[in-house]
Amino acid sequence: MAERNRQILLKARPKDRPGPEHFELAETPLPEIGKNEVLVRHRFLSLDPYMRGRMDDSASYAAPVPLGGVMEGECVGEVVESRHPGFAPGDWVGGARGWQLYSAAPGHTVQKLPAVEGVPPSAYLGVLGMPGTTAWVGVTEIGQPKPGETFVVAAASGAVGGIAGQIARRMGCRVIGIAGGAEKCRYVTEELGFDACLDHRGDLGRQLDEACPNGIDVYFENVGGAVLQAVFPRMRDFGRIAFCGMVADYNVRPLPPGPSLASVVRKRLRLQGFIVTDHPRAWPSWREHGAAWVRDGSLRWKEDMAEGLENAPAAFTGLLEGKNFGKLVVKL
Ligand SMILES: NC(=O)c1ccc[n+]([C@@H]2O[C@H](COP(=O)([O-])OP(=O)(O)OC[C@H]3O[C@@H](n4cnc5c(N)ncnc54)[C@H](OP(=O)(O)O)[C@@H]3O)[C@@H](O)[C@H]2O)c1
Repeated sequence: MAERNRQILLKARPKDRPGPEHFELAETPLPEIGKNEVLVRHRFLSLDPYMRGRMDDSASYAAPVPLGGVMEGECVGEVVESRHPGFAPGDWVGGARGWQLYSAAPGHTVQKLPAVEGVPPSAYLGVLGMPGTTAWVGVTEIGQPKPGETFVVAAASGAVGGIAGQIARRMGCRVIGIAGGAEKCRYVTEELGFDACLDHRGDLGRQLDEACPNGIDVYFENVGGAVLQAVFPRMRDFGRIAFCGMVADYNVRPLPPGPSLASVVRKRLRLQGFIVTDHPRAWPSWREHGAAWVRDGSLRWKEDMAEGLENAPAAFTGLLEGKNFGKLVVKL
């Protein structure tokens, strides 16, 4: 009997934790390929935290999986039939082809995997795939650690965190991982070569104080929740946080009160505190631009003028209650 395709479909949207009731196994005929398509027998499927978001129907940077649709995911596999000039049976390819055994893939949706000695095909789903690339971007472009800095990474034994910490170490940082349990922590220090690894199931605040006595320069955030709460107050001046993911919150509904920092990832927000006195070059520059605009009337401004030094305290109290209307100044 000819082999049939098997697919995992999204059957229902979970309210919090996904379970078997939200998935359905379907058997379908093998897809037929059209012009410029290849039939791929998927050999490895990547499972990643982001897929939890695709099960929800809420606004995000990517469309949800429709109910009854094949779950989304990256695969690597072998071309078994080709009607595309760039691919031949036996080629190994990778692409977002979903939770299924076969797919008819338009040639532009898959990439040929380079055959590199010592690199198994599944590595293109992890260390040399999306998670490895995520670590590379998060460390080199967002966190930008400098030699000698203290770099902390959450989910340190995982696909992204394990690579992120190793990259930071190559850049000359002291690297501290955070992971769940002694076995993962041992792997992070002994196998990955991190300088230390802290178990978030213990008293993380105390462990961070001991491991990072001068604070944290760069934090690579993969987890959120209690881990972020422990790390945040220990950031140093001019520290950087690469907000990569918040997996601790993915099954939590409703979310705890307060702004949801998951939006920082979803909307690629840039949050940066600053103090004006750190920017000496801005003062003369702004005077030049601002004065010209004040002179030609194109920059509008307003003063709220209090009279007499004795009225300064009341005016100041009012400022904190919104009673001023414009720049509060006291005429002495
Ligand atoms: N922004 C992007 O483009 C992008 C791309 C890829 C991945 N990501 C994000 O990166 C993060 C890591 O992804 P990954 O693929 O490398 O997964 P992973 O680290 O291989 O697996 C997830 C790990 O998160 C930790 N975790 C889960 N729930 C936790 C909780 N409540 N408290 C503390 N730790 C918890 C667990 O490790 P422990 O047992 O050690 O706690 C778990 O093994 C995720 O947030 C993911 O969404 C973002």
